[in-house]
Amino acid sequence: MVKIGVLVSGGGTNLQKLIDAQAAGTLKNGEISVVISSKDGVFALERAKKAGIEALALCRKDYPDVDIYSAALIDALKKRGIDLVVLAGFLTITGENFVRAFPNRILNIHPALLPSFGGKGYYGLHVHEAVLARGVKLTGATAHFVNEICDGGPIILQKAVEVKEGDTPEVLQKRVMEEAEWQILPQAVSLFCEGRLTVENNIVHIREAGEVKKRGGKIE
Ligand code: GAR
Repeated sequence: MVKIGVLVSGGGTNLQKLIDAQAAGTLKNGEISVVISSKDGVFALERAKKAGIEALALCRKDYPDVDIYSAALIDALKKRGIDLVVLAGFLTITGENFVRAFPNRILNIHPALLPSFGGKGYYGLHVHEAVLARGVKLTGATAHFVNEICDGGPIILQKAVEVKEGDTPEVLQKRVMEEAEWQILPQAVSLFCEGRLTVENNIVHIREAGEVKKRGGKIE
């Protein structure tokens, strides 16, 4: 079983979809072991507790800088033997030490089609505000591995969503969540846990279920 640690900062609807997938048996070979929030009192922690999952807050404001904060996160995750870290609406910047501690083992959900509308400052509602300000007609969500470049890691899954006339950032956010994020995040986590993802030169390859692991560049 792959032990999953989910990091959150807010309402936790993406976390809920992971919990639901686990209950439905569609999070194959994965188990959510802990949920950690960067803020106190967020609803995501209640969702975890209700599902019988260990829930704790490591508040960013209690640490002097990003590296010390990241070290505390690494410590909490390693202590629990976490294999995969999922950033499910985790809106706090982490240090390079965090990425180095879990190479290609941190998965993020981003509410746009990367590489558009990603990077510093593009989080939560701001992403949808920028999408509407630019007037693009298609947006969506991206599940990707996290590397040292903000929102620049290898892409695992993407799903497009239509932008409609009269959309507000809130309306668009809801549509992107319902039609894209809540679907591709549990799928990407399951693919990882099933051992079906490989990363070569920053590109993610997805094996068919049952296909034997790649060796020496060939699929066997
Ligand atoms: C989600 O839309 C997620 O994609 C976004 O924050 C929201 C959290 O909602 N994450 C980012 O913007 C990361 N850059 P949730 O707490 O209900 O899952």
